[in-house]
Amino acid sequence: MRTQVAIVGAGPAGLMLAHLLSLEGIESIVIESRTRTYVEHRVRAGVLEQGSADLLDATGVGARMRSEGLVHHGIRLRFGGCDHRIDFSALTGGRGITVYGQQEIVKDLIAVRLSSGHPILFEVSDVRLHDLKSERPSLSFLLDGASMTIECDIIAGCDGFHGVSRDSIPAGVLTAYARDYPFAWLGILAGVAPSSEELIYCYHERGFALLSMRSPTVSRLYLQVRADERIGDWSDARIWTELQTRLAAEGWTLADGPVIEKSISAMRSFVVEPMQFGRLFLSGDAAHIVPPTGAKGMNLALRDVSILARAVVSFFSSGDTQLLDAYSTDCLRSVWRAQHFSWWMTSMLHRFPDSDAYQAQLQLAQLAYTVDSHAASTSLAENYAGYEWATT
Ligand code: FAD
Ligand code: PHB
Repeated sequence: MRTQVAIVGAGPAGLMLAHLLSLEGIESIVIESRTRTYVEHRVRAGVLEQGSADLLDATGVGARMRSEGLVHHGIRLRFGGCDHRIDFSALTGGRGITVYGQQEIVKDLIAVRLSSGHPILFEVSDVRLHDLKSERPSLSFLLDGASMTIECDIIAGCDGFHGVSRDSIPAGVLTAYARDYPFAWLGILAGVAPSSEELIYCYHERGFALLSMRSPTVSRLYLQVRADERIGDWSDARIWTELQTRLAAEGWTLADGPVIEKSISAMRSFVVEPMQFGRLFLSGDAAHIVPPTGAKGMNLALRDVSILARAVVSFFSSGDTQLLDAYSTDCLRSVWRAQHFSWWMTSMLHRFPDSDAYQAQLQLAQLAYTVDSHAASTSLAENYAGYEWATT
């Protein structure tokens, strides 16, 4: 097989890249190691920045997000049992977020791609990347037991944190920056109407809790748990009791309901630089991950592929590699902004195992300042809704 751009991974990054390229008449083939059903049902992110929602709209895949997604104009920070609203619209000149499940975006992007007759090869295995420094790189893999090869001009490594693309780059080329956190998130999807119209980020002495949602009848909730916690030790009743304790507030009750899904996710910050090696370009979680407290991971993935698509279009129309050469630098400015914001939100809202009473008072002082100061609230709001650089 031959194509212009071979895309490894059918997550938000790979599928959006394929879509953006197809709108510009550039051919691509997407390969994915999982089944279509698996990727369409993997419960992960839920918050779209203003710019990400605008991107889905502008490229013709926003219809279902507009009808089923929930537009929010702020979030609540809850500490000391009281809520403090951060008003995104007022603080950012009308910007907001849209709550719409990542797997719904994946479904929408798969549907548009398949309806236009372009391939996604699911359930591939033994993926290998070749000749990355040449002008004719290639991918080899197994599909239904048969060996296949795709020759191409460019490979986009959109295969997430555990993919093969990043590890295909020779040792010594990349610089990795990483931080592991001494806790994890236990997340549930529950068949109950959300008890709040807006997301609640809650600081509590027993640990962080988050109330989010997916629809008027489905809630998404998270609890900070120990990094080595096992999901089998958390019965539904235990989860609800802990949520009730941490989220308790005067005059407010948390409605519970059937748990549809539950899992534990590690918390990590990670960046590799550069995000390019020869004709291989890394996008999304393949190049960087953030702890989910800032709701940034999927948004960054979409931002990366917007930058990559523009560079690829320029390359195929003029042969000019200037934008491709600038890809990594162009992405990393927003990547590091989101790294800092995610680390900051995580540090402010979680209980660290080695934390003492002094540390807890510092966190509460930071929370009080963040909700009281116009400047500090604005900083949170503009980062959460998606920071747009004043200088390009
Ligand atoms: P992925 O979604 O990981 O997709 C990579 C794809 O590549 C996968 O389908 C995988 O199966 C495939 N693949 C892997 N290896 C291979 C291979 N060898 N060959 C072929 N295919 C391969 N982000 C937000 O923006 N907002 C949020 O609210 C938010 N909440 C989150 C909550 C949780 C609990 C978690 C865990 C994450 C959250 N994130 C959030 C982060 C977000 O889910 C990720 O950043 C996002 O999935 C990144 O997209 P991606 O396409 O880069 O990678
Ligand atoms: C979610 O709804 O899954 C969600 C919301 C906010 C976050 C992380 C995840 O910060």
